[in-house]
Amino acid sequence: PRVLVLYGGRSSEHAVSCVTAAGVLKAVDEEQFDVVPVGITASGQWTRPTVDPRTHTFNGGALPRVAPTASTVTLHGGADGAGARTGELLEVGPAGESTLLGPVDVVLPLLHGPFGEDGTLQGMLESVGVPYVGAGVLASAVGMDKHFMKVAFEAAGLTVGRYETLSARQWRRDPQAALDRVRRLELPVFVKPARAGSSVGITRVDGWEQLDEAVAVAQKHDPKVVIEEGISGREIECGVLDGREGESPRASQLGEIVVHDGGESHQFYDFTAKYTDSAAADLSCPADLPAEVAEEIRRQAVIAFEAVDAEGISRVDFFYTDAGEIVINEINTMPGFTPISMYPQMWRATGIDYSELITELITLALQ
Ligand code: DAL
Ligand code: MG
Repeated sequence: PRVLVLYGGRSSEHAVSCVTAAGVLKAVDEEQFDVVPVGITASGQWTRPTVDPRTHTFNGGALPRVAPTASTVTLHGGADGAGARTGELLEVGPAGESTLLGPVDVVLPLLHGPFGEDGTLQGMLESVGVPYVGAGVLASAVGMDKHFMKVAFEAAGLTVGRYETLSARQWRRDPQAALDRVRRLELPVFVKPARAGSSVGITRVDGWEQLDEAVAVAQKHDPKVVIEEGISGREIECGVLDGREGESPRASQLGEIVVHDGGESHQFYDFTAKYTDSAAADLSCPADLPAEVAEEIRRQAVIAFEAVDAEGISRVDFFYTDAGEIVINEINTMPGFTPISMYPQMWRATGIDYSELITELITLALQ
């Protein structure tokens, strides 16, 4: 099959996606899959990469980015000789001349955050009629929105932490009333853009005088803001991989994020701790937990996956509190997927290595 790998994108997680693409393009089984990488620039242009995406890393210096080019790649719906739907990739040059880059059987959207992981791209792929890896339109949108995912989790009987939402409309109508509502939570709170990832735009607030500024920072990323009460406990994650042919989703061994006390530099597992400061946090897998707790978290991870109607792949993040309670934090429908990211590590510990995992995900999308 011919696989269109999309990476980069119009999101604050552009660079993370570039590094994920590097890992995947190096490991994908080229005997089974004919891979076509297409980069999406930060302003949304689809391009044939001028830099080999396999070279993108996070080893200090400038973050990787997809560079704009004079020619734009587009994806169209088509049909093969037998009438089956396929995608057709075209490149349109500066003078409007177009070149056929061939058919596409399946899309692997290695995109994090808005316009990649949030259902918008999935909607475009649905309308073109090309299969793709991962969650569909609604699941992607719910999984991107830290408010609606909690609504779905609660409806499925899972425990979420205390939180408040500030919608753009509530903010326009009466910001003071909105802030008063937030102040009913217990400090510290985490102020987050409702629809972003990799901790971008998040502030930890330890005193209410910091709230206005924290909300303003989050609103730069999303007019909708979610404020969560801090939870003291361990950060435990579980990988979910869909089942073949209608079988139940599979849950991986658990991983744990161990954040080192970074003093002033990292008050939580922030963007820098996640990607550029390798001393800031350790990923430990399998997490050292009593067997029955681990089993329960795995069970809840599958419930969360089904609660948002996810498909293919998700990483579900939990807190295991000091009081021994399991609290769900969030689901990521396109989790970080570099070879050293938690999701592939958890599957490696479960017996599926990185290349096999990529093969499995593409196979699931094609079935
Ligand atoms: N949003 C990042 C990529 C993650 O969840 O891993
Ligand atoms: Mg996350």
